[in-house]
Amino acid sequence: MGTITVWLARSFSMNWTMRCLGISVLALTVWPSRAYSQPKPVDAEGHQWWQHAVFYELYPRSFADSNNDGIGDLNGITSKLDYLKSLGIDAIWLTPCYPSPQVDFGYDVSDYENIDAMYGTLQDFDRLASEAQKRGIKIIMDFVMNHSSDQHAWFKESRSSRDNPKRDWYMWRDGKGESQTPNNWISIFGGPAWKFDPTTGQWYYHFFYAEQPDLDWRNPEVEKAMFDVTRWWYKRGVAGFRLDAVDTLFENPDFKDNPVLPGKNAHGDPNMENRYNTKLPELHDVLRRLRVVADENNAVLIGETWTKDIEELKSYYGGHSNELQMPMDFLFARIDKLSAPEFRKQIAGVDAAGWPVYVLSNHDITRAYNRYGDGQHNDAIAKLMASLYLTLRGTPLMYYGEEIGMENNDPKRKEDVKDPVGKVGWPEDKGRDGERTPMQWKAAPNAGFSSTTPWLPVPTSYKTHNVHAELKDKASILNFYQRLLALRHAEPALLDGEYVALNEDDPNVLSYLRRYKAETVLVVLNMSGAGKKIRLDLKGNGSKASTLLSTQGRSKLVSVSSISLEPFGVFIGKMEQ
Ligand code: GLC
Ligand code: CA
Repeated sequence: MGTITVWLARSFSMNWTMRCLGISVLALTVWPSRAYSQPKPVDAEGHQWWQHAVFYELYPRSFADSNNDGIGDLNGITSKLDYLKSLGIDAIWLTPCYPSPQVDFGYDVSDYENIDAMYGTLQDFDRLASEAQKRGIKIIMDFVMNHSSDQHAWFKESRSSRDNPKRDWYMWRDGKGESQTPNNWISIFGGPAWKFDPTTGQWYYHFFYAEQPDLDWRNPEVEKAMFDVTRWWYKRGVAGFRLDAVDTLFENPDFKDNPVLPGKNAHGDPNMENRYNTKLPELHDVLRRLRVVADENNAVLIGETWTKDIEELKSYYGGHSNELQMPMDFLFARIDKLSAPEFRKQIAGVDAAGWPVYVLSNHDITRAYNRYGDGQHNDAIAKLMASLYLTLRGTPLMYYGEEIGMENNDPKRKEDVKDPVGKVGWPEDKGRDGERTPMQWKAAPNAGFSSTTPWLPVPTSYKTHNVHAELKDKASILNFYQRLLALRHAEPALLDGEYVALNEDDPNVLSYLRRYKAETVLVVLNMSGAGKKIRLDLKGNGSKASTLLSTQGRSKLVSVSSISLEPFGVFIGKMEQ
């Protein structure tokens, strides 16, 4: 079983995926009419900046190593901004680069308002932010809300005594009996979700590793401190946050036992429905209040929203579009095969739900190159998948290296595994190292990422799949991404046009229009390994198109009511009126 399957299977079976008000009386009475700040639209139709942006997730540890210690850093990222700009990126999401003991590679934060020395300094961050701004690139930070590191000053205080003022910032409970956890909840990373602390003789709750104690979001002081963290970064020029593990924010106040399901998971724990510790309705109240702060700063909130269906995904936008602007649609990424009918169905669902956010993979999910590739036509399939999610209505979120066809490089031996998930789950679950390897810059040792052995090894495909080589090759995946992203920015129909499905019974070819005012763009994607000739029902939108981008040679003007495509071929054209 591949990492994605195990990861998602784990998420689903363990139900991860099913997983102050500070207005003072004075403020209300003295300034009752203080206007609620509305974010500024970028066009007359009220679109927000993030609706026209292409986002790029960047794993700082693995992007570019400026000081050659084998670990990527902020100065490395700054040195690659011109590359990102020429690729067509408008916003970068940095996974956590805050001070951290790195138990979960940064998702265990010990100080929310600083940069870990291994990645640089706050001054380096400011330089990155200002250089990015000069190029029109926005920066999104990762907001690890559910838990801090056990090395955070808050937790050190909290654990020091039962009457410490920070005691109630985390969740401490008595055991059911001698050496017995307070309830049956288990950690998604294996073992009980409780750790006993002898200093005070109580247990604390952790949904992830024991080194990641859950903050208590029922405590208004926690909310205030965490909201202030976002304000602090907004002032430093950050344009939004990706909210980590958002469905784990709240727990049932009575800490009831979860229902146990038959069988065991990859960690040997009983399968469980996480009914009382994931997706509690209270989390939506926090999101609404956090959105007010975001709106005051013209910022965007992106959610790590593992949902079981579209209805659940819809709930994250908020009833009045007042929660997350961009909840990620992982249902799309879960379609693990090239299936026109499955993608068609999923696209229609999310398109009707709100402003879609499309993702193919990330630092927790096996790379798209491996998941969709058939082993023979992987490069063609990489272009096909790019053509799909970069031409849909909605905001695409790329993962670094996708644009050069980077592949997973899973550890071959248990002793090489860095991600604790893989250490616990080996060999069934090899962890997430494979999708986190260094960016492949050129055909030089360590793919040009670093002159020292990097923290994770690069796959041998770096020799052909790297930025330097692909920039020179007109037929490369990178070249294709550049042209596609340029088109996406230039064609109003690709940015704002409605999505109109065509030939909905076709089992192999996914076709649709993007229609905006008088302009219509046609997208035809052959998701099969056989050449196809199809008759398109263009629903009265003409019959001739000028070619915008195609994977096979075509004349400029094409008659598209009948069109042939090579295996995994792509045609994108603008309908002639
Ligand atoms: C999110 C992150 C993942 C991390 C977990 C705990 O799922 O994407 O990498 O391990 O949260 O913070
Ligand atoms: Ca929690």
